[in-house]
Amino acid sequence: MTTAIYPGSFDPVTNGHVDVIRRGARVFDHLLVAVADNPAKKGLFTKDERVEMIRDVSRPFKNVTADWFDGLLVDYARRKKAGVILRGIRTVSDFEYEYQMAMTNRTFAQDIETVFVMTHEEYSFISSRLIKEAAALGGDVGAFVPKEVERWLRKKFPGKRS
Ligand code: PNS
Repeated sequence: MTTAIYPGSFDPVTNGHVDVIRRGARVFDHLLVAVADNPAKKGLFTKDERVEMIRDVSRPFKNVTADWFDGLLVDYARRKKAGVILRGIRTVSDFEYEYQMAMTNRTFAQDIETVFVMTHEEYSFISSRLIKEAAALGGDVGAFVPKEVERWLRKKFPGKRS
């Protein structure tokens, strides 16, 4: 049984993230989507809200679970007996950052493999940062996030459209 971890900030979850979850759920026996709790990086949503959000959007996928972690990703992966780290690549501009992370993780843990999936081109320009900015300014972000996340955003920005 292969468990893969899909780590990220997920602040908030986008349609691009869901696309990676869908692809990962098809390839691996168990996909653990894990929110990195980085106290130095204050997000819009708390780690618990993000985990809840991932549970909401992952309901259709029976082999997907959600969790959070702090500390090093590879230590968490070992605790969870996961041999794979899954990440999505949107465009070539993602590559350098992803390469650095994959090589850093490989240096720490030779036994854990990073596997990339290409996200659907429809989602290639979607980013959590721009979605937050647009939602805060009253933009309709319904095209970029799942319905459940739109509701979460509406709660954060009451009175706004999203
Ligand atoms: O969604 P993001 O912000 O691109 O995800 C980055 C993340 C959370 C995967 C990365 O920052 C991470 O793995 N953080 C955990 C701490 C760690 O292990 N850092 C060293 C390896 S890069």
